[in-house]
Amino acid sequence: MSEHTYPSVKDLTLEEKASLTSGGDAWHLQGVESKGIPGYMITDGPHGLRKSLAASTGETDLDASVPATCFPPAAGLSSSWNPELIHKVGEAMGEECIQEKVAVILGPGVNIKRNPLGGRCFEYWSEDPYLAGHEAVGIVAGVQSKGVGTSLKHFAANNQETDRLRVDARISQRALREIYLPAFEHIVKTAQPWTIMCSYNRINGVHSAQNHWLLTDVLRGEWGFKGIVMSDWGADHDRVASLNAGLNLEMPPSFTDDRIVYAARDGRIDPAQLDRMAQGMIDLTDKARAAMSIDGYRFDVDGHDEVAHQAAIESMVLLKNEDAILPLKKDAKIAVIGEFARTPRYQGGGSSHITPTKMTSFLDTLAERGIKADFAPGFTLDLEPADPALEAEAVKAAEASDVALVFLGLPEAAESEGFDRETLDMPAKQLDLLRRIAAVNENVAVVLSNGSVVSVAPWADSAKGILESWLLGQAGGPALADVIFGKVSPSGKLAQSIPLDINDDPSMLNWPGEEGHVDYGEGVFVGYRYYDTYGKAVDYPFGYGLSYATFAISDVTVAKTGANTASVTATVTNTSDVDAAETVQVYVAPGTSDVARPVHELKGFEKVFLKAGESKTVTIDLDERAFAYWSEKFNDWHVESGEYTIEVGTSSRDIAATVTVELDGDGKSLPLDEWSTYGEWESDPVGGKVVEAAAAAAEAGADGLPVLPNNAMMRMFLKSMPINSLPTLLGEGGKTLTSYLLDEYAKLTK
Ligand code: BGC
Repeated sequence: MSEHTYPSVKDLTLEEKASLTSGGDAWHLQGVESKGIPGYMITDGPHGLRKSLAASTGETDLDASVPATCFPPAAGLSSSWNPELIHKVGEAMGEECIQEKVAVILGPGVNIKRNPLGGRCFEYWSEDPYLAGHEAVGIVAGVQSKGVGTSLKHFAANNQETDRLRVDARISQRALREIYLPAFEHIVKTAQPWTIMCSYNRINGVHSAQNHWLLTDVLRGEWGFKGIVMSDWGADHDRVASLNAGLNLEMPPSFTDDRIVYAARDGRIDPAQLDRMAQGMIDLTDKARAAMSIDGYRFDVDGHDEVAHQAAIESMVLLKNEDAILPLKKDAKIAVIGEFARTPRYQGGGSSHITPTKMTSFLDTLAERGIKADFAPGFTLDLEPADPALEAEAVKAAEASDVALVFLGLPEAAESEGFDRETLDMPAKQLDLLRRIAAVNENVAVVLSNGSVVSVAPWADSAKGILESWLLGQAGGPALADVIFGKVSPSGKLAQSIPLDINDDPSMLNWPGEEGHVDYGEGVFVGYRYYDTYGKAVDYPFGYGLSYATFAISDVTVAKTGANTASVTATVTNTSDVDAAETVQVYVAPGTSDVARPVHELKGFEKVFLKAGESKTVTIDLDERAFAYWSEKFNDWHVESGEYTIEVGTSSRDIAATVTVELDGDGKSLPLDEWSTYGEWESDPVGGKVVEAAAAAAEAGADGLPVLPNNAMMRMFLKSMPINSLPTLLGEGGKTLTSYLLDEYAKLTK
């Protein structure tokens, strides 16, 4: 065999095939070196490379890892609404994997932020599956363009950390299909991630690792996934069941390959299934081989830092800017307050914790750029009580300045993988300090550092400006200085609603579950789908974000491009004298429907960079899925005929223009039977004809057929009755009518 020829699974012994289905250690594939299948390294992810220094021994050590560029975690990057930029981040991560000989980077994670208290919200993208999928696909495509794989995770429904290893997420088919699966589906269909990592939890009673419906029927059967599925670390509790369900790889190894061998011998594993799973592992190493054979590659450390810098700029969301307090003037007398300005919180805790190649704080940047400011830390980044001396110093600095730039946020211990938060509130000592600062200086601008949403309303009156900077990765300092001093206008948009109160969140009735299960009782009404449908006030809506510029959207048109597709065009104009970017958002609002649907849903967006005064026209195509809901009746997507409203705007609550479009619908219908209601018979194209014929025959005096009561209430009553119940209302005539309908329908549909 030549060096570059891989064996097929047919060349392997049973033991060798079994060995491919578990890792070699915590961070390596097992490989079969004697047959030319290497045991490549795979490691975290997701916002940069976390290659453990203890990697060779396979130990897990979250903090000691080789330096890698720390890009903004998804909480920040998702606010960029910029797939091209995200693709560049992916390319850079792919290059770092080549240098470090990592064949697969474990990310991105695209689980939905069902509730803002979720511990991993900082590394997930959005409450909206369309946005999550259309952004995170850039990471997958970008990394893989370099010949390195990704692991799209955590498949599926890892929406909380409480009891995450065993909780049973009880979710309707419709909510799964419309909310919890589409980000995965989009990325699988458009970018074919080399690997997918299953989640720890159960879904409707079955652990993801053992879920044949999830891993085989949906992922491979319906979506055409070609890669391999690995377990989350320790999520495989029954290797035989998992392998049969479609899990290729157990990570890390439990040293139980012999169980696979025995099960294949005694028939508990179909040999063809073992071959498929092992062949997947061979194909994976085959795909990585070219990149893993590059020796001596060095990535461009400064170039990647610059990508991280740009990504950080676009991650910030300007929430409030009264009296145009931002941008600050460099010659103003500025007090910079808050430890975060000196010790940035730039990433979240847990398996994604990486060691950056560089780190420049906001204070360092000011010094580098020769911008003068008084600094006072004000508080410590721990959970200790307030320090009166630090507070007094900060208040004094604020009093002596034109403007107080106050850095507040969540300390590292407040949010991490592994546990959910208990409150949206910011630490009390920071808010007390803010109030004291506002009492001595009316020009306060707050910069927030947090991975998950925090409450803003309780303290917003103390600040004229609020810049939500999330976690910005290693280049946050320079990026903040660029935005705060107006070198660049902020352009981020919220990927998640900021509620007024956590108890307004629709999932709170079922959060975080009890006795081992959690019911996703809000169904498809997650985030803005709930707030906007039920008219609930929020602090800041989904899609919201201010700019130093102003924009106008005009000339919105919608053209039908097929029976159930349309194309939207809109012109966006920068009406200010500041260069900046605006994101045009397209929401689809269904008309009347047989099911309860959100009042509108995001189905397209485009970020547009515009020089002062410039205009551009964008075109956004809406495919059939943009109008569909998941019908549990048809067990399929369904587009109803009728009128849909296309809304074009700059947040879910700032809609500039609406245009309606009439769709044909997909014409799906189920055959009628005796359990179909009289109303369903009336509205069915064939059933309706039979109903009309029965009425005409009854009027003409046909034997035994009843003339139906012409009374509105009775008609309503009738409408909801399965036709096998007609005798209850109509006596023996009802029986005759039921038989007539079924007989005539059978003749017409034969
Ligand atoms: C996390 C994954 C991670 C893996 C390996 C797990 O605990 O859930 O996201 O990739 O560990 O570190």
